[in-house]
Amino acid sequence: MGQASAHPQRVRLFVGLWPGEAVRDEIVDHARRWTWPPQARLTHRERLHLTLCFLGELPAERIPEVVERLPVRFEPFELRLGEAEVWSGGTAVLRPLAVPAPLQMLHDRLGWALRWHAAPWLPRRSGFAPHVTLARDVRAALPPARVLPIAWPVTAYTLIESDLRPPARYRVLYEYP
Ligand code: 2AM
Repeated sequence: MGQASAHPQRVRLFVGLWPGEAVRDEIVDHARRWTWPPQARLTHRERLHLTLCFLGELPAERIPEVVERLPVRFEPFELRLGEAEVWSGGTAVLRPLAVPAPLQMLHDRLGWALRWHAAPWLPRRSGFAPHVTLARDVRAALPPARVLPIAWPVTAYTLIESDLRPPARYRVLYEYP
């Protein structure tokens, strides 16, 4: 469990799944097998993640309130990343072949916990399309013809701060369980 050393006044937060080193390597290997247009902005290895719940910007002093609401029932599960797609906005993503029930439940439980107590602005019903963003600005990208599924054993979820000040980076604030 880690804590950020310094917080700006407002922080951009999200709850997500943070891959371990081996899964990160596999996603990077997968991304190398795409054909990218020159303007593609590839996600840096250390920023690869899957968002469960985007909280947006809030005052830094509210972090403890968010943290207090974060523990929800969690069952470990395995994701199999294997669906490579380009979305209409020009985002290249790698999606799980199926959404395991514990992933959907985790997403729903976090939504309930955070919406009622820490982030009332979260949409009540949002389509959950779990994905790892591989690159942006890539309308013309070509995924590999054959995708070897990546097994990702998920044993925890994390609260992450997205610090957009250059050099933009993500900071894991807390990990559950
Ligand atoms: P994306 O990968 O699909 O762009 C940190 O910015 C994370 O939160 C990213 O994974 C991003 O998802 C997601 N995110 C950013 N802005 C968002 C928004 N307005 N609504 C939902 N998710 C958002």
